[in-house]
Amino acid sequence: MSGKHLPYGRQDINEDDIRAVMEVLRGDWLTTGPAVERFESAVAEYAGASYAVSFSSGTAALHGAMHAAGVTRGDLVLAPPMTFAATANSAIYCGGSPLFADISEDTLCLDPVLAHAACMKAPSPVRVIIPVSYAGYPVDVRPFRELASRTGAVLIEDAAHALGARRGERKVGTEADMTVFSFHPVKHITTAEGGMVLTDSERFAKSMRLFRSHGIVKSEQEFIRPYEGPWDNDMISIGCNYRLSDMASALGLSQMKRMDAFLSRRRELAALYREALRGAPRGLKLPPDSPGHSYHLFPVWVIPEMRKRAFVSLRENGIGVQVHYVPVHLHSYYREKFGFKPGDFPKAEMFSSGEISLPLYPGMDDRDVRFVAEKLLAVLEEPLAY
Ligand SMILES: Cc1ncc(COP(=O)(O)O)c(C=O)c1O
Repeated sequence: MSGKHLPYGRQDINEDDIRAVMEVLRGDWLTTGPAVERFESAVAEYAGASYAVSFSSGTAALHGAMHAAGVTRGDLVLAPPMTFAATANSAIYCGGSPLFADISEDTLCLDPVLAHAACMKAPSPVRVIIPVSYAGYPVDVRPFRELASRTGAVLIEDAAHALGARRGERKVGTEADMTVFSFHPVKHITTAEGGMVLTDSERFAKSMRLFRSHGIVKSEQEFIRPYEGPWDNDMISIGCNYRLSDMASALGLSQMKRMDAFLSRRRELAALYREALRGAPRGLKLPPDSPGHSYHLFPVWVIPEMRKRAFVSLRENGIGVQVHYVPVHLHSYYREKFGFKPGDFPKAEMFSSGEISLPLYPGMDDRDVRFVAEKLLAVLEEPLAY
């Protein structure tokens, strides 16, 4: 043990962040106040999108995006199984059902060829296609854009891992119809819990704003029934309370000032892992690289027979590794409700059975990376017991 615990991810909070939250606490607004719009504008401007709608979590943001896309009973939502359950759950919240297609071994993201085949065979309309930029690898959305145009589906990118990632010169956030981010503490920036959807569509933005606030309007022009006076309000569609607070937004706004520094430190740490694990033994595989990768995670793959031992040994050394993810279709709920079973998506299952996410967050120092790599290599060099 190094004596230091290394979680797999961790927020970076400084005195400016604390001051920003304290200012809100001393002010007039705790819930929806001026920091909300300022934070939304900062993220929209950062990624180059026209509209940003904040939510109380990434999951709420996904729900808002699915609702805006019009997902309803009987609709299918095409997603990769190698993601957090929330990606597919958000379709179910709206009455839709998941339609999975396997991942590509090269990108660990939704395979466009398999996605196309799944769409062509789908028994009912595919309302949404939702590729996931897994680990921060910026999935190429062009084939999904084409598929969405051909089938009339809405393209949503789950970019919970990919704030700051780039495809060529474009930052993730503008190429899908809606792009969803999460600000959970292990992500690039945090608001404690929080999420956001970027879009260039005024219609989607409007629908999401309404949805996150009970579906209630207050201005006369938006009423469906007759307006009675300045006290009146009208609930014109179903909605939730998914608003992000002013406190959380102030934290997010302050964090955005260090976004580029966070991103470059993550990239440096990933490069250090690559260096330290070069020529790695016993079938170890490193995640796909890309110049635009935002490195939310550093997911390595070990031979599945070795995973448990490697995982336990790293944990015993104070290294807080995790597995991202149990493929969504293998969760009991998905098996029981939709009849999925092992073997349905072999590439996602094979990847998941050997995956270990190594610690990666801006507060790590270079020695931490070397320590993790050394412990991983040591356990992989031990002979397998037969
Ligand atoms: C790919 C993906 N989508 C959605 C979410 C949901 O985000 P949140 O935890 O902010 O609800 C996560 C959370 O980790 C995620 O990893």
